[in-house]
Amino acid sequence: MSDWPKKINLWLECIGCNRRFPVSGIRYRCSCGSLLEARRDLSLYNGASLLKTWEDRWGMKNGPLASGVWRYKELVIDLGDDDIITKLEGNTRLYPAGKAGEYAGLDNFLLKHEGENPTGSFKDRGMTCGMTAAKMYGAKSVACASTGNTSASMAAYASLCGMKALIFIPSGKIAFGKLAQALAYGGTTFQVDGNFDDAMRLVQEVCSEMGIYLLNSINPFRLEGQKAICFEILQQLNWQVPDWFVLPGGNLGNNSALSKALMELHELGIIRKIPRIAVIQARGANPLYRMWKTGSEFRPVKNPETIATAIKIGNPVSWEKSMNGIRWSNGVVEEVSEQEIMDAKAMVDAAGIGAEPASCCTVAGARKLVKKKIIPKDASVVGILTGNMLKDPDSIIAYHTGKLPVKSKIVGRFANRPVKVAADIEVIKKMLGDSFRNR
Ligand code: F0G
Repeated sequence: MSDWPKKINLWLECIGCNRRFPVSGIRYRCSCGSLLEARRDLSLYNGASLLKTWEDRWGMKNGPLASGVWRYKELVIDLGDDDIITKLEGNTRLYPAGKAGEYAGLDNFLLKHEGENPTGSFKDRGMTCGMTAAKMYGAKSVACASTGNTSASMAAYASLCGMKALIFIPSGKIAFGKLAQALAYGGTTFQVDGNFDDAMRLVQEVCSEMGIYLLNSINPFRLEGQKAICFEILQQLNWQVPDWFVLPGGNLGNNSALSKALMELHELGIIRKIPRIAVIQARGANPLYRMWKTGSEFRPVKNPETIATAIKIGNPVSWEKSMNGIRWSNGVVEEVSEQEIMDAKAMVDAAGIGAEPASCCTVAGARKLVKKKIIPKDASVVGILTGNMLKDPDSIIAYHTGKLPVKSKIVGRFANRPVKVAADIEVIKKMLGDSFRNR
């Protein structure tokens, strides 16, 4: 049973052969095997009046349109308020990068903190749409494979609307905060004996055999919601387009959504300039980078490995959408080492901003691209921080206390070690000297 409005300006279109399917039927792939994307007839909209509508909704106090996703519902999913399942996600801050900007060598670097979403990651933006679609299809249960953030988000939204959440995570390989969330929000959590790519294969099989609604980013509605990161950044910048966007790449949904958002704004004449997109991968999980660098066909990485567990992915589902968007934006793909990720993280954290390791690929990658003179020092750059610092406290403590596994070869270069002291004022005064005195 489908509750989709009959006249909705939205269909699913194959990115390979352009075959179209109505939204009313559940589909994740075309019969030719390629992924689908949600499309609409943009000629039915006027750019200037969309801008006015979105400006009018800015700062709304309540109701679904106060969400930083549904504010832009015309380009997300154009549904009535009652159909929308939302935790008023988005509305995240855009910080001057401060010390992290100096570290990257950039004069004009802003960080969009998607870790400030309701469950602590950018996934909430896609999930509000995916879950709304699940409801439109009359689903009672949803599933995903995850490195931790998608599952935390899905579990929360499923609980919110009374659906059952089935989660497949790689055993022992996701950050503690994320596992805690999945359990706490009440998701049925399967720790699969294998990596994320195994879990991803499995969830697709289970969903197709059992008719469970699949909420990985292969789901076209997830990406429609994630586009709102781009809309919101540009609205925060008064629609002045930066020179560059920099973001991490794992399963490659987020950068695909970013380029799709930019293409639509461009087609509507809302923006004229096309910013360049830089996607940053961890060196141990870098299939897109390898493809980019060598010009070869896409080949999965067999045993992906990185401390940034969120992006420990060897066979990303959306590589083709991702590559199309990078090429369209005249973008680049870069890789960063484990040491570069954790040093950049120390800088993002010490700037008072804070983010989980995968997010900090953004700053590590920006720094590398500045060093290579691909991004000019004076370019305007927006980096996306994808997840909250508290998702993965283990990696922080290990870095600052010198307890990272020896085989990771990461050195705590900017470590801020805790100091053990006796409970004695004289000892403390002696240790501090004059360094903390205000008078
Ligand atoms: N950053 C964080 C914190 C993530 O959780 C993810 C993906 C990414 C970056 C990469 O985004 O996949 O769109 O390229 N996490 C997924 C998950 C895979 O299951 O939570 P992407």
